Amino acid sequence: MTVDLAPAFATPFDGIDAAAVADAGPMTRGKVRDIVDLGDTLALIATDRISAFDRVLGTVPYRGQVLNELAAWWFERIADIVAGHVVAVPDANVTIGRKCATLPVEVVVRGRLSGSTSTALWTGYAQGCREIYGITFPDGMAKNDALPEPIITPTTKAEQGGHDEPITELEIVEQGLVDAERWDEVRTAALALFARGEELAAESGLVLVDTKYEFGIDPEGQLTIIDEVHTPDSSRYWRAASVDERLGAGLEPENLDKEAVRLVYAERGYTGDVEPPPLDRPLAELAAEVYQEAFTALTGEALKPAPYPAAPRVVDAIRAAAS
Ligand SMILES: Nc1ncnc2c1ncn2[C@@H]1O[C@H](COP(=O)(O)OP(=O)(O)O)[C@@H](O)[C@H]1O
Ligand SMILES: [Mg+2]
Repeated sequence: MTVDLAPAFATPFDGIDAAAVADAGPMTRGKVRDIVDLGDTLALIATDRISAFDRVLGTVPYRGQVLNELAAWWFERIADIVAGHVVAVPDANVTIGRKCATLPVEVVVRGRLSGSTSTALWTGYAQGCREIYGITFPDGMAKNDALPEPIITPTTKAEQGGHDEPITELEIVEQGLVDAERWDEVRTAALALFARGEELAAESGLVLVDTKYEFGIDPEGQLTIIDEVHTPDSSRYWRAASVDERLGAGLEPENLDKEAVRLVYAERGYTGDVEPPPLDRPLAELAAEVYQEAFTALTGEALKPAPYPAAPRVVDAIRAAAS
């Protein structure tokens, strides 16, 4: 079902050398992206690195291309809701984005009572909490149930190596992280974005379960959505067809996102306390399949694999964008 993975396994794309783009601008490294500062814009390079448990586990063939092209696909489909940062997509793995002043919070929107990490709704609910993120929940809900309406559960943006911490909307404003008027604009945009995401996902046979938005302010003072939108990295997707049946049978839904990898680690007994073992080849293949399935379901087209090794074409694209 997926494209031939051999070229990407032969020459894994785990990033580019800062020296190769030094004349274009200084490079920094996120967990997934290499970022070159071009002045007014940033070149965001989606590599094949996969992170989970706050670590890079290895590479997944064509993952960067899927993330970059899916984000671009979504940015086009939300442009009527809020300004997006995309200036150009000069390569399968590269987006040129308008450089913005980032808001210091991650805007998480959730449509379901789910999750397994310490900040997840279900984790709190299962421990008996009925007041989570400043929101009151009714008794009698089951794991993965749809919420009466989507909710915003923001987190702080941790410095490198740290953990994002839950924060309420009220605290964001009270602590002066975002002023009240701006936050109002953020919350309206986030809910409208999520509604659009749910709608297009449903048309593609998927459930958009939850997602994370990053916002910035552009040089003109305009609220702008940055980073990535509704990718299988920033969001969780389920296959819609099997959801009700699986939940009815007490099973987990079928995940088409990074959760598929996390679940295999959990099945193998990994609990998250120690350094995670590196991603092995069968799991990299599984992840490649999951990401491409999400891509195909949403866009209605198979991925057209870009050539490997990837670094030379990525470097060329960035040097051209800088000149
Ligand atoms: N338009 C933009 N302006 C400023 N910063 C941006 C923009 N788009 C993305 N970013 C930042 O670039 C980084 C992307 O790299 P990534 O590997 O996703 O990092 P992380 O490990 O923090 O998730 C993030 O820190 C994100 O906030
Ligand atoms: Mg990121």
